Amino acid sequence: MSVIPNSGNGKITVPDLLQRKTQAAGSHSNLQKITCLTAYDYPTARLLDEAGVDVILVGDSLGMVVLGQESTLAVTIDEMLHHTRAVRRGTRRALVVADMPYGSYHTDLSESLHNAMRFVKEAGAEAVKVEGGERRLELISRLTEAEIPVMGHVGLTPQSLNALGGYRVQGKTADAAEQLIRDARAVEAAGAFAVVLEAVPRELAAQITRELRIPTIGIGAGPDCDGQILVVHDLLGLTFGQKPKFARQYANVGQIIIAMMCAEGRFHQMESPIMRRRWRWSRKRRRSIVTAIGRKRATKQESSRFLAFARNENRNLILQVEGR
Ligand code: KIV
Repeated sequence: MSVIPNSGNGKITVPDLLQRKTQAAGSHSNLQKITCLTAYDYPTARLLDEAGVDVILVGDSLGMVVLGQESTLAVTIDEMLHHTRAVRRGTRRALVVADMPYGSYHTDLSESLHNAMRFVKEAGAEAVKVEGGERRLELISRLTEAEIPVMGHVGLTPQSLNALGGYRVQGKTADAAEQLIRDARAVEAAGAFAVVLEAVPRELAAQITRELRIPTIGIGAGPDCDGQILVVHDLLGLTFGQKPKFARQYANVGQIIIAMMCAEGRFHQMESPIMRRRWRWSRKRRRSIVTAIGRKRATKQESSRFLAFARNENRNLILQVEGR
């Protein structure tokens, strides 16, 4: 699939996003909010892209919401590249941003640059995201010099989980708020084209948004940021365990899947009639019915009772898998 990033064909580019903020500031009108969601696979990327989402982030939240890990720390570059390629294939209009996972930009600068380039060259990312403020100044400058657009990420940075001691709102004291402002300014000064503000008090996020020339993308940072980002699984009800308080759930797809699979008989109705007949009368099935009743022949009534029982067993199996 060829995606030519020029303005005019609807493709979202880095300059478009910057321009939105400049135009809004110039005309004193409201910025058309930047919509940003995560995706990790082809079908989700296609749906979000067709729905008109501006930015698709292949987040390292992949580790938690797709791979079932406890934090984002174990996610590898190869896993991120694999999922970024899938998202790239499903995206035509949105800007595809790849999250650099923990460890891929924390050693020396040339290795970090090499890793970031892999996202562009091997996976088709149009930008990368790195966590951290002032301490990423040099890294962000090097990446932008190398023509790799960078999205910054300050406030609650999940890759600093062990250092922060938990997932908590950041910038709550005067000192912490000042540090956060310095971090956001540093990210802008280094050349980033946007910055994610995660778990930041609303007033602080609003102040940073007013001050910066680049768009701010909030997650748990109130409604005044230039855009919002959410983890798509939170939004669709596809996450397990505790959900972030700020993540509004718009649908409960998880429940729909379970209900569909468990509804009496429906699971079997999904098979074609031919498959159903085969399932019913195959030798193996007939043998298992006979074994179950302990006689050579089964009456029609016994067969249908057994089939009903087998269907129920299937349902219980699904419920067991779900840990119910
Ligand atoms: O990994 C991720 O999904 C993120 C967003 C929540 C900002 O970093």
